[in-house]
Amino acid sequence: MAVVIDGKAVSAKLRQEMKGEVDALKARGICPGLAVVIVGDDPASRVYVNNKKKACAELGIYSEEYALSGDTTEEELLALVDTLNRKEDIHGILVQLPLPRQISEQKVIAAISPEKDVDAFHTQNVGHIMIGDYRFLPCTPAGIIELIKSTGVPMEGKECVVVGRSNIVGKPMAMLMLHQNATVTICHSRTRDLASVTRRADILIVAIGKAKFVTADMVKEGAMVIDVGMDRDENGKLCGDVDFASVEPKAGYITPVPGGVGPMTITMLMRNTITAASR
Ligand code: GUN
Repeated sequence: MAVVIDGKAVSAKLRQEMKGEVDALKARGICPGLAVVIVGDDPASRVYVNNKKKACAELGIYSEEYALSGDTTEEELLALVDTLNRKEDIHGILVQLPLPRQISEQKVIAAISPEKDVDAFHTQNVGHIMIGDYRFLPCTPAGIIELIKSTGVPMEGKECVVVGRSNIVGKPMAMLMLHQNATVTICHSRTRDLASVTRRADILIVAIGKAKFVTADMVKEGAMVIDVGMDRDENGKLCGDVDFASVEPKAGYITPVPGGVGPMTITMLMRNTITAASR
């Protein structure tokens, strides 16, 4: 029986502290502001964007939404980013990914001012993360570090295995754990005998976007299992990349979906917006 790590509770505690920081900034005449840009009508993106706006409202952070149609051109989106870069009441800019295929995500990310890049996706911020200088925290990996810390289990010297090598989660996750003195392995779709690698993990992070992919035979007895997935099962029900029912009895700690990593990602976005405003 694993300890289920409650992302909602850890988030609530952090957000309470952040509320105080927002109030302190406001007392100095600074109201943190976040612009959220969504292009097209992807239902998952719509849910994420709504949750981000809700979190802003709860903390007293000013937010603006820019909902653009799915046929928006790259030039139009770049022009909006340019406007937001110059807007003084906006400290953070978040362009929800994925973008429609006619728009280059890399070009758009590169156009966001690094000082307002609250996702920490700009190459300049990625470089800072690489050397352990966290101007902006990569939101999902930083949220996971907070979840692990909440358990009191130290990362130093541990075997940490990350499944997935995306720029958003897998790569920065590995870097953050390395900075915590873990021994880190990154696996991906071409990894040979994946289960033999994941079974080595004291801490296993799964971010591949495949419903219930990780089963009990892939997990070491007593391991900590962190599930970054937001998938749908065969009945259309929200689930993670980990088969919770089979893994939970074997794991030492596990995050649920929903209510695990998801709330933490948004909390770290709020932290970055406050950081941007306080500079
Ligand atoms: N799409 C999925 N995750 C994210 C995220 O963390 N930030 C942005 N901008 N888009 C996403």
